[in-house]
Amino acid sequence: MTTAESPTSPNSSAAASSESAASPAERMAHRMQELANRIAAAREEYYGDDSPSLSDAQYDALERELKQLEAEHPELVAADSPTQSVGGAAVTTFDPVEHIERMLSLDNAFSAEDVEAWAERVEKDVAGATVRYLTELKIDGLAVALLYENGELVRAATRGDGRVGEDVTLNVKTIRSIPQRLATDAPPARVEVRGEVFIASADFERMQAEQKAENEALLASGKKPKREYANPRNTAAGSLRQKNPQITAQRPLSMYVHGIGAHEGVTLGSQSQIYALLAEWGLPTSPHFKVFDTLAGVQDYIAHYAVHRHDVEHEIDGIVIKVDDLALQGRLGATSKFPRWAVAYKYPPEEVHTKLLDILVDVGRTGRVTPYGVMEPVTVAGSVVTYATLHNANEVLRKNLLIGDTVVLRKAGDVIPEIVTSLPQLRDGSEREFVMPSACPSCGSPIGAAKEGDVDLRCPNAETCQAQIERRLIAAGSRSVFDIEALGEESALALVRAGVVTNEGDLFDLTLEKLLDVEFYRITAKAALAKLEKEGQLPLKATAQKLIDNLENAKQQPLWRVINALSIRHVGPTGARALAQAFGSMQAIREADEEALAQVEGVGPILAASVAEWFSVPWHAEIVDKWAAAGVRMVDDVDESMEKTLEGLTIVVTGTLERFTRDGAKEAILSRGGKASGSVSKKTSFVVVGENAGSKETKARELGLRVLDEAGFEALIAGGPAAVTLPEGEAGDE
Ligand code: IVH
Repeated sequence: MTTAESPTSPNSSAAASSESAASPAERMAHRMQELANRIAAAREEYYGDDSPSLSDAQYDALERELKQLEAEHPELVAADSPTQSVGGAAVTTFDPVEHIERMLSLDNAFSAEDVEAWAERVEKDVAGATVRYLTELKIDGLAVALLYENGELVRAATRGDGRVGEDVTLNVKTIRSIPQRLATDAPPARVEVRGEVFIASADFERMQAEQKAENEALLASGKKPKREYANPRNTAAGSLRQKNPQITAQRPLSMYVHGIGAHEGVTLGSQSQIYALLAEWGLPTSPHFKVFDTLAGVQDYIAHYAVHRHDVEHEIDGIVIKVDDLALQGRLGATSKFPRWAVAYKYPPEEVHTKLLDILVDVGRTGRVTPYGVMEPVTVAGSVVTYATLHNANEVLRKNLLIGDTVVLRKAGDVIPEIVTSLPQLRDGSEREFVMPSACPSCGSPIGAAKEGDVDLRCPNAETCQAQIERRLIAAGSRSVFDIEALGEESALALVRAGVVTNEGDLFDLTLEKLLDVEFYRITAKAALAKLEKEGQLPLKATAQKLIDNLENAKQQPLWRVINALSIRHVGPTGARALAQAFGSMQAIREADEEALAQVEGVGPILAASVAEWFSVPWHAEIVDKWAAAGVRMVDDVDESMEKTLEGLTIVVTGTLERFTRDGAKEAILSRGGKASGSVSKKTSFVVVGENAGSKETKARELGLRVLDEAGFEALIAGGPAAVTLPEGEAGDE
């Protein structure tokens, strides 16, 4: 595609600015060139890449417009116009295939009420017959029809428009789970099997990881990275459309079949029987389906997968409900588009398109400068999203993002929103490149990599950079640090911006009098002011007193939390606990040299170096001194009365317990000499499971580990392993 770099490319700002002054003929030529570029890029994507980003209709519209302009202005037809080659010279097209029976689509339902309305209609139409509902997952893949003649796979075709699809036989034959021959001695003369081709989530993650590594190597050698795989569905579609079946063969494609089209020589009674037969023939059928006698069961199934949609091996975008009885299916029939005997319940989308309005940078508590996208707000997976982190400048390159681009935004389950990729076909020339700033947006210090080869850039001015101070203060107040409920983001920013807190060292010196200088805490309503003055009270909101009370309590927090509050690079809760346990006091940690620090279990050389370096900075030491002077506890009371019942044991707690918080359970284990771990392995001594324990419990049972409930955990804490181990010969299973 030779035109991508032409001066009239839609990405060129020269093209955009010259447009207004151009003559009609020039404008026409410009439009034709633009169309040619877009078509060329779309073809490249469709046939070459794995990420078609235009719908067939959008592509057709571009081609139609170009053909029409060329017909009106034959003098302007470029020799390399895409209309001069069908699908591009080097491109294999897939032959059209007429489906023997139309491949219908499914009508959609978006709520429980929609499903109910569909079922009511079904039950009315079958007039008193008993309806059983087969309910299964809607696979987010692409529909393919397999034609078997006398048991032999003779053809595979995509759905296309339902009537005519594309012949992808050679590529489909590379999918290992699809049998070339049906496993039966008495195959039907002819049967068309329909299903969905997809890439399993784990396989897709592997592909992404491999490509990420490849891209890092490309970037390291100054080359342009490859476009990232957008999502499993598009990647599956692209893989199936490879010109070269050998490439398809390298892609981890899977298929589940979910129905029969045209057939001769088979008689069947129900949809579930179809699945049993297809499985018997060696075809891949989904393990996820259930038949219900009532609609209530169907609704429960829908609700279950709304929560567990990511626990399945492939992506799903909904639930398909089918009338199980084939005779009833026949009676219900179909409209011109959908069968009346089935419906697709669609979950809210997890991937949407939106505009990337800007890319800004954020400064974190350790000075890391991170670009993030600001988007036109959109609802994705049920919540409104405006911002998404972009991690570092390389990520912006890798994702091919320009400010002003339309982007694909994704939010899978409850994870943070992520910009997947841009849609460069939708650019109009007004987009601009993001340039990573060379100075900190908060304090103006020059930013750079902390050491050679680091992808992350940092603001080195930890002492007075306001953004860093604000972030550190917010972090100090958070749940896993000092746990100061009244110190949230809003209040932390107010304190720093009013100048009442110059850095976190001032935190415990706050008084009600000082809070009078912070607008955030002041009462301004005249009537209320007059009343307070009469009573001799300070004009402060209730949250001011709350902050002071919270701070008083926070002074008694255990040592590891105080260490965690210092925002030392590489020191999180785990490292802080290890330090606290090994040294017992802040003073001892301060006096320890790097070597002594590195010897502590759970403290590696990187962490040790970071801690030693931190304490060597005078203003850092001052923070600690100020806190100590204000009464913050700097030693852990070693409670010798606490029996070390868990000495030598590694315990994993998973799920929600009733009588322990996550931190509480951890503290209970550590204070009794045990080790609290987050991952289950053969070395784990006990796994404690609460409500909604997930894969860790499964793994524990697979490994044959001792699994305890909350009561068992309490017994273990009190009496050690003997308290929960049954005497020899008495088999037990907690
Ligand atoms: S049954 C008459 N079952 O969803 C149509 N379709 O939106 C019968 N799909 O074109 C289709 N998972 O490609 C059926 N378990 C499933 C499905 C499924 C995904 C696709 C199918 C269909 C599209 C409709």
